[in-house]
Amino acid sequence: MGIIYDPASRQFHLFNQEISYVFRIMENEQLEHLYYGKRITPYQDLSYLSERGHRDMQVCPIKGNPYFSLEHIRQEYPAFGTGDMRYPGYEIEAEDGNRTVRFVYQSHEIYSGKKPITGLPSTYVESPEEAQSIEITLWEPDRKLEMKLFYTVYECLPVIARHVEFTNLGEQSATLETAMSLTLDMPDKDYEMMELVGTWGRERHIRKRKLEVGVQSIHSLRGHSSHQYNPFLALLRPNATETSGEVIGVSLIYSGDFLAQAEVDNFDVTRITIGIHPQEFRWKMSPGETFATPEAVLVYSDAGCNQMSQAFHQLYQKRLVRGVWRDQVRPILINNWEATYFDFHEEKLLQIARKAKEIGIELFVLDDGWFGKRNDSRSSLGDWYPNLEKLPQGIVGISEKIHAMGMKFGLWFEPEMVNENSDLYRAHPDWVLGDYTKSLGAGRDQYVLDFSRKEVVDYLYQKMYEILSSAKIDYIKWDCNRSFSDVFSNAKSPEEQGKVRHQFILGVYDLYERLREAFPEILFESCASGGARFDPGMLYYAPQAWVSDDTDAVERIKIQYGTSMVYPVSSMGSHVSKVPNEQVFRNTSLHTRAAVAYFGTFGYELDLTQLESSELEEMKRQIVLMKEKRNLFQYGKFYRLRDPFEGDKNTAAWMAVSEDQTEAIVAYYRIMQPIEWRYERLPLLGLKTEACYCIEEWERDADQEQDGIRSGSELEQIGLILSDWASGKKAIARELQGDYMARLFFLKEVSERK
Ligand code: DGJ
Repeated sequence: MGIIYDPASRQFHLFNQEISYVFRIMENEQLEHLYYGKRITPYQDLSYLSERGHRDMQVCPIKGNPYFSLEHIRQEYPAFGTGDMRYPGYEIEAEDGNRTVRFVYQSHEIYSGKKPITGLPSTYVESPEEAQSIEITLWEPDRKLEMKLFYTVYECLPVIARHVEFTNLGEQSATLETAMSLTLDMPDKDYEMMELVGTWGRERHIRKRKLEVGVQSIHSLRGHSSHQYNPFLALLRPNATETSGEVIGVSLIYSGDFLAQAEVDNFDVTRITIGIHPQEFRWKMSPGETFATPEAVLVYSDAGCNQMSQAFHQLYQKRLVRGVWRDQVRPILINNWEATYFDFHEEKLLQIARKAKEIGIELFVLDDGWFGKRNDSRSSLGDWYPNLEKLPQGIVGISEKIHAMGMKFGLWFEPEMVNENSDLYRAHPDWVLGDYTKSLGAGRDQYVLDFSRKEVVDYLYQKMYEILSSAKIDYIKWDCNRSFSDVFSNAKSPEEQGKVRHQFILGVYDLYERLREAFPEILFESCASGGARFDPGMLYYAPQAWVSDDTDAVERIKIQYGTSMVYPVSSMGSHVSKVPNEQVFRNTSLHTRAAVAYFGTFGYELDLTQLESSELEEMKRQIVLMKEKRNLFQYGKFYRLRDPFEGDKNTAAWMAVSEDQTEAIVAYYRIMQPIEWRYERLPLLGLKTEACYCIEEWERDADQEQDGIRSGSELEQIGLILSDWASGKKAIARELQGDYMARLFFLKEVSERK
């Protein structure tokens, strides 16, 4: 791994065993992008990649050189207003209104390790040998502005992390109108763009579209990263599959408004851009001020999407998530939300908790409704004191009772929100986002608090601190249940309004950071009406996130499959809930519900006091299994095997393999039972080809053909044989057939074949 600067060609080459990233300083002292992809031999002069043609109608900044047009040069971080007509990396308005700002190369510094970004989440290293970084300083002499481009290349991952910092060293203000985290100009458009799209209850479904000339983009202007789009896109070569072909993934470590786009120009050059959405952003930098963009992460794979995802998983699991929970398996929890909603009292909760304890659950989570006078969504957000009618001894009392049972205790908060009907709103109506003297749009009967104001964040910190320091709280579910509208800070000047959306997120990060520091043992789970803030920014503070409010097993297969494109299994909040399902009214077996939820943090969210003893017995077995295998489920190398969005669209499969490849778990899901179907085989991945594996099916051992010992190569080349009644094999027990079926297989290496 390394970063090389060659003074003769003025080229920078960032590389490790897998990737190369090359750019150079041009004759006009701006930066030209030369190459990004599979590793090429370092020390090679790649100047020949600076192709220059004469294009009619082009604007040439170097007078007398008709071959030099920024519009036709693949740039490293392009400016607006200098002849490049594509969407830029940044746009700055000087105090005199001039938006043409030209930065030129000044110096660079290469060093081992990686620096944090003040106030923002970012990937990190544990020792300087893990990565090398370079800071390129560019300078705008007229306005005395400095721009630093930061790059880090990790030694053992096909990852480049980038961000940008602007500093105003002049005496006048300068206003950032656009400050993207990354642009990347690729030489052709022969890609499909993959995105994770959806809505509430249907988050992160995979969508692919062929790149065409023009702009194709996804974005959020909702204040959070959103249900609709995730701050991620990937470019896939047309032949790319899960296991082969080139894939470039781009992910933004940020939880607020974002824009991710691919712009293809009329010469088929593709510019990828990702960063804070410029639409509502306007950041006036006073003299001396620095602005840092969020970090963007580039992952390169020459072996398809699985390899890209595994790199994201490893990076985010081990070098983004921090703290005591980073490497720990997650406690199996019971959450009371779908069991009781707002309608509970302490005794009801304790009844559920007792049952939970009996079946081996480790953490009881008290969801929404425990504070103020909250009995529905219309009141009390902001009033963070216990409702003594429901909880006579408050949070202290119930947390002690739960602990006395031998379980941990978790609590729900929604710190960023306030109801109009609350003491907090009555005391501080101007603390909301939006002109409080006018009628404001409400979502779920609530307003958004102005977290761009320090006093608001301080207040919330104080209130949460009081509760967390007085009671025994081991886990927090941090919710955020509405998109933002009417964004305006009642405390800020007109020229500061363009900062509010970003400052809001900085305020959220600040509150998280302070609470994490004060209570390092607490496990945080982020949540936003399900999965509206399932993003890397949140993972820096909360190692797990609620995937979706849709807890139906069948819906969850697609949601978790899509989520796995970027995010590790250990981060996916997943629960077994009741049937008929609360969102889609579907009846699925307890077996199938668990078989999906195992691939996540795993817990239950239903009224255990209403279940048959046979169901509780089955759950007990599930919990024993999860306790035994959760390290493999949550931290095994994850392989997607069958795509529910493609092919027959009726089956899906994935597997987790232990680091030493001696153990694996395979899950196969079939939505509707077909008839007179093909013989079904499922080729596996990630095994030792020469090793022998003993295969056992979980709680469904009627399939004699499958049980036994197979070599890794057979399992990879031929696969598991999964034919059943659908393929005419009537020897299998009838009750194991039917719709919404899940099969789980455990593979263990054995010394030899019987
Ligand atoms: C939305 C979350 O996603 C749910 O799990 C639950 O916590 C509710 N909010 C509570 O209001």
